[in-house]
Amino acid sequence: MFAVYAEKLSIDDPMSGLVVGERPDPEPREGWTTITVKAASLNHHDLWSLRGVGLREESLPMILGCDAAGYDEDGNEVVVHAVVKDPAWADDETLDPKRSLLSERHQGTFADKVLVPAGNVIPKPASLSFEEAACLPTAWLTAYRMLFTRGQLKPGDSVLVQGAGGGVATALIALAHAGGLRVYATSRDEAKRERALELGATEVFESNGRLPEKVDAVMETVGRATWSHSVKSLRPGGSLVVSGTTSGPNPDNAELTRIFFLQLRVIGSTMGTRTELGSLVNLLDVSGVRPVIDQVLPMTDAGAGFDAMARGDVFGKVVFTR
Ligand SMILES: NC(=O)c1ccc[n+]([C@@H]2O[C@H](COP(=O)([O-])OP(=O)(O)OC[C@H]3O[C@@H](n4cnc5c(N)ncnc54)[C@H](OP(=O)(O)O)[C@@H]3O)[C@@H](O)[C@H]2O)c1
Repeated sequence: MFAVYAEKLSIDDPMSGLVVGERPDPEPREGWTTITVKAASLNHHDLWSLRGVGLREESLPMILGCDAAGYDEDGNEVVVHAVVKDPAWADDETLDPKRSLLSERHQGTFADKVLVPAGNVIPKPASLSFEEAACLPTAWLTAYRMLFTRGQLKPGDSVLVQGAGGGVATALIALAHAGGLRVYATSRDEAKRERALELGATEVFESNGRLPEKVDAVMETVGRATWSHSVKSLRPGGSLVVSGTTSGPNPDNAELTRIFFLQLRVIGSTMGTRTELGSLVNLLDVSGVRPVIDQVLPMTDAGAGFDAMARGDVFGKVVFTR
């Protein structure tokens, strides 16, 4: 079958390991089901994989991609949940020490077909296109959990979203706006700041710009470049929810003094549960909120999408179609 996969790993030249070609069809497996992929979306995770973060040499060749929407074996329209847990684990899947994401241990979604545990599919509402639904399982689910499960934010609260242009960040802005929050957003790029306003941000700022108030929570996916500003933007007792470190994991100043003195909470967040994905899908179905899609490309042109993401030249999601 057609597939986009990692053939080798390189920290400095991740694109050198990307292959657009052919891989064997998935072998049927007890308790798993084969999804025919109609659309899949690109995440920074796929670039990390090509750099060897979360993907090991011995797992190669590995089909990339965490997210997909398509048809199940009975022809139903479905969305795939990307978190694969140990079958014996009965708690929150994201807390399973043996969990993995599709494309880490099991082949990913950038292909004609993907094999997933039978419990990892949920119905796709007709109101969402395959392209929109394919944006949800990683970036949008991560944003949903950061805001509402880990961040515990409620209507009327204030939130800062760092790096407005990202797949997770655009989801954070749209979902926070839909949830009745006051949303501040930063971006390095003026055009992205303008688009963040259209998406529901109350006010936008250059990276590290001063906010009009200290906020209840900051949503952090940028890491080193914005960490200090994130900590300094919080009110006493506020929460910093972190799910990514695109610019690097080691901030120049960890701001520990401010963290204890102002009794801040630093909260990690990763992906989300199947139940949360179901809630997110319902929220979009009923509210009319839709993922921001930067570009839709045939999967055969996947390399162009990876290039755009590596350059930081996207606003929202890059989607591949079959
Ligand atoms: N823990 C999880 O479950 C989980 C799930 C999804 C994603 N993530 C992580 O979250 C991060 C974002 O993922 P994504 O898919 O949304 O990636 P993305 O679409 O590539 O977004 C990255 C955004 O980060 C901002 N940025 C990058 N470098 C920056 C810098 N030096 N200074 C300021 N801003 C910078 C940019 O915003 P501007 O251009 O607007 O400034 C960019 O739009 C990644 O590191 C990813 O691995 C984690």
